[in-house]
Amino acid sequence: IPRCLCRYALGLEDGRIRDEALSASSQWHFTTGPQYARLNREEGDGAWCPQVASDSQYLQVDLGRLTFLTMVGTQGRYAHSSGNEFARAYRLNYSRDGVLWKSWKNRQGNTVLEGNTNAYASVLNDLHPPVITRFVRVLPVPRQATTVCMRLELYGCNWTDGLVSYSAPEGQIMTPPGFPVVSLNDSTYDGSRQRGRLVGGLGQLTDGVTGQDDFLSTRQYQVWPGYDYVGWKNQSLAQVDIEFTFEKTRNFTHMKVHSNNMFSRGVKIFSSVSCAFKPRLQGPYGAERVAFRTVLDDRNPSARYVTVPLGRAARVVHCSFTFADMWMMFSEISFHSGMANASSSPAPEDRSSPVLIGCLVSIILLLLVVIFLILWCQCVCKVLEKVCLILLCGRVVSLWFYFVGVNSDPHYERVFLLDPQYQNPAHLRNKLPELSQSAEASACGGGYAEPDVTQCTPHQSFQASAPHYAETDIVRLQGVTGSNMYAVPALTVDSLTRKDISAAEIPRHRLLFREKLGEGQFGEVHLCEAEGLLEVLGSSRSDSRSVLVAVKQLRPDATNQARNDFLKEIKIMSRLNDPNIIRLLCVCVTSDPLCMVTEYMENGDLNMFLSQREIESTLTHANNIPSVSLSELLHMSVQIASGMKYLASLNFVHRDLATRNCLLDRRLTIKISDFGMSRNLYSSDYYRIQGRAVLPIRWMAWESILLGKFTTASDVWAFGVTLWEMFTLCKEQPYSLLSDEQVIENTGEHFRNQGRQIFLYAPPLCPPSLFELMMRCWSRNIQDRPTFEGLYQALRPHAQ
Ligand SMILES: *[C@@H]1O[C@H](CO)[C@@H](O)[C@H](O)[C@H]1NC(C)=O
Ligand SMILES: *[C@@H]1O[C@H](CO)[C@@H](O)[C@H](O)[C@H]1NC(C)=O
Ligand SMILES: *[C@@H]1O[C@H](CO)[C@@H](O)[C@H](O)[C@H]1NC(C)=O
Repeated sequence: IPRCLCRYALGLEDGRIRDEALSASSQWHFTTGPQYARLNREEGDGAWCPQVASDSQYLQVDLGRLTFLTMVGTQGRYAHSSGNEFARAYRLNYSRDGVLWKSWKNRQGNTVLEGNTNAYASVLNDLHPPVITRFVRVLPVPRQATTVCMRLELYGCNWTDGLVSYSAPEGQIMTPPGFPVVSLNDSTYDGSRQRGRLVGGLGQLTDGVTGQDDFLSTRQYQVWPGYDYVGWKNQSLAQVDIEFTFEKTRNFTHMKVHSNNMFSRGVKIFSSVSCAFKPRLQGPYGAERVAFRTVLDDRNPSARYVTVPLGRAARVVHCSFTFADMWMMFSEISFHSGMANASSSPAPEDRSSPVLIGCLVSIILLLLVVIFLILWCQCVCKVLEKVCLILLCGRVVSLWFYFVGVNSDPHYERVFLLDPQYQNPAHLRNKLPELSQSAEASACGGGYAEPDVTQCTPHQSFQASAPHYAETDIVRLQGVTGSNMYAVPALTVDSLTRKDISAAEIPRHRLLFREKLGEGQFGEVHLCEAEGLLEVLGSSRSDSRSVLVAVKQLRPDATNQARNDFLKEIKIMSRLNDPNIIRLLCVCVTSDPLCMVTEYMENGDLNMFLSQREIESTLTHANNIPSVSLSELLHMSVQIASGMKYLASLNFVHRDLATRNCLLDRRLTIKISDFGMSRNLYSSDYYRIQGRAVLPIRWMAWESILLGKFTTASDVWAFGVTLWEMFTLCKEQPYSLLSDEQVIENTGEHFRNQGRQIFLYAPPLCPPSLFELMMRCWSRNIQDRPTFEGLYQALRPHAQ
């Protein structure tokens, strides 16, 4: 979850936090004990009230696990209008272990939060900075000698990093000529300071806030320059050693370090990092280290995330970062580990769409009734007309809320309030008044109010025969992982699924489990070894070598609908036949669980492959650094274009083209697949919209995000982003400096087209003509985008 979205109610109001987890320094009476301190509830005498009003009274909540706490909501004692006690101000203390308590301070160093002004309204306070904690104490500040009572809710999300402390050298002070002093200290660090080192706490490197490109700017929090960063100078330290301690042993996939790169002021990302791992809290570090060299960039001064692959299990990680320039500045470090279960929360979209349709139907019926009643009112009781209307409207509105309430899972209910930093993308959608039929029409390039379907055909100049399909005619194949692999016109599905499955059955015992690649609502994807696969496939050569395959398996308890979709997907997959599209090899459909077996490549996916390489040069040759050449990159691009050309010729829309979905075999042949969404490693590339799908928004065309329109032309947009990824060697996520909300906001700018939209920058490696091609893929109007045929023809000469 992006941290700015981490605003879920943690469960005081709805009872997920149990009475046992609530305690207090004292209570006025047992009917005002801590268990009654629940926001919007009226049990007992309606709130927690301490025995006396003093500075040291507290209400304590044990959240049961480490939590990223972003917001606090309080309320007074109302007790069905018989109460009138509330706290005008309060402080917060917190503790990760229940022993060592720290007091919360805002960025200016104040500890007091403004509380309530009456007994009934709840007041929400954003925590700047947020804290990572398990235990929270709320201490009402008595401003007058009356009783204070409180009800409470806490907001945040699980702290999946599992990091409990880091230890680093204290940040230093920079004195650039002509500027105020730049203080690069870790000012929110909550541990102790011992001989120039920070020990035993967390601070700015884990507060979820990334620094700006220009570290001298004070725009973000109006504090001092350099506030967001912790920075060090090369003259005082040979390298920067940071030690990270975790709650439990974790199997790390990678670490992301957000780093400034304002080289004009002597700041650059680190040149290399070397990490050691300790399996237990005590004891020595393992001898094996993981080293990673970065590619330095002195063209683009943007701050960026640097991804460091780790691939080790440990409880304590110690990393030494080496300087690339005079200064090194970090604003955020996060860890991603295989143990974290990214798919523990099934995408709610499948459940919600029938409910939603039900809601809409009911609301339409209700409106009809309202209209009927209004007419009736007008005739029969003209006097009561207004009353009728008001009552009925009230009813409709409350029913609407009721439905919306039914539709949403309280676990995923998020609070969007107060802070413009946290914008609700759903509001954003509503705010765009243009998202009407006319927008639809302009997306199709015509000025028609009623969209003319023939106008919507992307690339009409090339493929005059390609029909456009209305959304209802599209069959979305819901893969086992709950992802949409391809959207296929219903006609095509019909013609494809009328035939039998044209893939061989493989005896289940020949599939040897190696590793789980991913998991979703309907099943799992495993990496397996298939024994004697060639034999199964009827090859004349009797070759019993085993081959690596990906096995998508449906859960035995899946619904009939999911089962039918799975069979449909198998039938369609078995008809796809292109050298650059992942091939269905065989199936197990004679017994449960159903499974489909596709190719899997030893070289993994293109994202992993490129991110571990640098561009070929004499330096990489001399030092034996894994590298890739420009012509290899171009050759890969041609293959992706070719595979997509094939899908487009069948009117298939992929919807999730990205380097993570391109697999590579030993000879660098690309096979386009769809495993990305089910893998934990790539969960940050997807954005989960409440009640809707999980979407790869950074790869999506504006019309896909705003209008839900997926076409071959939106695949072309994603192809442009994929090219960009390749030519940055996947060292950076697209728009890495924008939050998910900002990416969605930028989509609105693409639509408005007033020159405020942000495009991906030209990667330094990328030939100018190729960047022009990428920019054409990101044209606002669909007909200005090239086709895959056109892209293939344009790229091919480059690759030779
Ligand atoms: C960090 O630096 C600022 C500005 O110089 C200073 O006001 C603040 O007290 C320092 N914080 C810590 C914790 O050293
Ligand atoms: C960590 O994950 C890797 C790759 O998924 C796996 O090969 C390795 O065995 C795991 N290590 C541990 C200790 O779980
Ligand atoms: C610090 O960095 C500067 C600029 O790269 C370099 O000239 C200088 O030699 C470095 N100093 C040390 C002690 O490494």
